[in-house]
Amino acid sequence: MSPIAIIGGSGLYAIEGFERIETLDDSTCWGTSSSPVVRGMVDGVEVLFLARHGIPHSIPPHKVNYRANLQSLYNAGARSIIAVNAVGGINTKMGPEVLVLPDQIIDYTWGREHTFFAEGLDEVVHVDFSYPYSEGLRKRLISAANRLGVGLVDFGVYGCTQGPRLESAAEVSRMERDGVDVVGMTAMPEAGLARELGMEYATLALVVNWAAGRTEALITMDEIHEVLDGGMLNIINVLRETLKPIY
Ligand code: HPA
Repeated sequence: MSPIAIIGGSGLYAIEGFERIETLDDSTCWGTSSSPVVRGMVDGVEVLFLARHGIPHSIPPHKVNYRANLQSLYNAGARSIIAVNAVGGINTKMGPEVLVLPDQIIDYTWGREHTFFAEGLDEVVHVDFSYPYSEGLRKRLISAANRLGVGLVDFGVYGCTQGPRLESAAEVSRMERDGVDVVGMTAMPEAGLARELGMEYATLALVVNWAAGRTEALITMDEIHEVLDGGMLNIINVLRETLKPIY
């Protein structure tokens, strides 16, 4: 069975209980991945881990080499990915500290290398992306959270912006009219590239702030870090429970 891969986002650079077996080469035909893929064991289950923004956290969302990251995980044998993302909340049910398992995506990014199928093709390739997230992985995450009694909103449209700046209040209002529930900067092209490689993909998102204009206050990095520090424990617990084989 192929191991599940975890892509750690802001705030998640390691998983508690992770015992490293080996660190793999970070070079791919698409360039170097943000960090080397690390193969290890969590509670007796093999898992692969990659830090999306590098170690230390130094690669901004628009500079991440998503193609190399996905290719690295694929080369390491992963066929399913749980991505962890910090997001801003737009939907009133999705305020700071809430865990969200989105079921749809709208891509507002631009200028990112977003496909493996650009050059040297015998024929043009279009992959289906009607349902970006794997229902199988989503179900595993939902039942793991339920077993632990951790609250999780199991739906939501993830709007992916270019960053690294945060959005204007008007941009967030437009996204709300589009049906976006949470806003982040890293779901795309990551999810699209996973689909191009035929990999199962799900996102476990932690809301770390109200999106721009949703409250009177301006968004500060201090508030984001505070929620990240507190919320990662829940994320790690849900991940560990999800990885456990079900007998
Ligand atoms: N917008 C975009 N990305 C984010 C936000 C936000 O408000 N919070 C965390 N990542």
